[in-house]
Amino acid sequence: MALNLLSALLLATVTTRFTSAAITKRVTCPTGETTTNAECCVLFPILDDIQANLFDGGECGEEVHESLRLTFHDAIGFSLSQGGGGADGSIITFGSVELAFAANAGVDDIVDAQTPFVNKYNISAGDFIQFAGAVGVSNCPGAPRLEFLLGRPAATAASPAGLIPEPQDSVDSILARFADAGFSSDEVVALLASHSVAAADLVDPTIPGSPFDSTPAVFDTQFFIETQLKGTAFPGLIAISTCCRETTHPVFRTSGNVGEAESPLAGEMRLQSDGLLARDSRTACTWQSFVVDQTGMQNQFKAAMAKMAILGQNKANLIDCSDVIPVPQGVTTTPHLPANKTMDDIEQACSTSRFPTLTTDPGPATSVPPVPSS
Ligand code: HEM
Repeated sequence: MALNLLSALLLATVTTRFTSAAITKRVTCPTGETTTNAECCVLFPILDDIQANLFDGGECGEEVHESLRLTFHDAIGFSLSQGGGGADGSIITFGSVELAFAANAGVDDIVDAQTPFVNKYNISAGDFIQFAGAVGVSNCPGAPRLEFLLGRPAATAASPAGLIPEPQDSVDSILARFADAGFSSDEVVALLASHSVAAADLVDPTIPGSPFDSTPAVFDTQFFIETQLKGTAFPGLIAISTCCRETTHPVFRTSGNVGEAESPLAGEMRLQSDGLLARDSRTACTWQSFVVDQTGMQNQFKAAMAKMAILGQNKANLIDCSDVIPVPQGVTTTPHLPANKTMDDIEQACSTSRFPTLTTDPGPATSVPPVPSS
């Protein structure tokens, strides 16, 4: 018996040593950093360059928000029924086609900002878009450390039109579009945690930089709380016309604000699609589940992003370079109701469990400032 125990202990020690040796085996890159795979070394100079020169020294600002949005607009160009290369960089390589899609209004700014980096380094546009998104999000306190896989080949064709969801779309249409790309309704909600670090420039071009929650530089759960506040009735849909600010791209707005539902917080914008998804029976309970579950939100966002980032790619051909992505800081605040709001302002939508009880931020109600453009 004693002998058996001793051999078990010895085996455990040997296994632990063997496992930790396997886990800690790393290569040292010419630039001095270490990583598990030598082929990931090419990423460190790019990391330093984009942190300094694309993300203003490592901020969670407009370029990070736009880079995260770009990961989606490139990847979702994938359909189980219509084809499309997914996360292949076609939004840059075939920008003359894809940037003319109405749903890509405003995306040209970040494509213009990222293209010189793609040209400067030996990296495909598809890899660069997902790498910049993962690095950018790591600048947002509270974000998960996203997976990053390297090795997407160059895109061969533009994505078919009509694959990017728009804020005036119905929940039926949004869920059907995501299902056609392989995502469940729970994964749609998880991906929308991205709107925690987001703002709109063109939904209403008269108020650019309008954030979707009160903390657009922090990847926290406030987005899921604030979208559940009672707002005014969602506006009826207004026909889209080609109009307004930028002559080359149609925008959402005509005489009213298509795709926009009024947020009860001054300065904040609520997309109609986010407001509806927060209240639909298929998505409301998952939406509510994130309100006080930062870790669950992080984990599910990370998993859904990992899936989205390789849409259309063969995972077996990609190299795991996730350890190049910086580790984000944690959040320091707790989920709360904005000043002047009470639990009576919450519009209960999940039918199986109550919205968590939250305390109200002290002080008078203030206006949420716009995200500055750089
Ligand atoms: C139902 C699906 C979605 C719809 C209808 C939608 C729609 C929009 C719209 C209309 C904007 C504002 C664009 C502007 O006026 O500047 C926006 C911004 C943004 N979206 Fe989404 N989105 C969806 C899903 C996603 C997903 C899955 C991601 C990423 C994983 C994402 C990331 C972002 C980010 C980060 C921004 C902020 C960009 C900035 O601040 O410049 N969105 N989205």
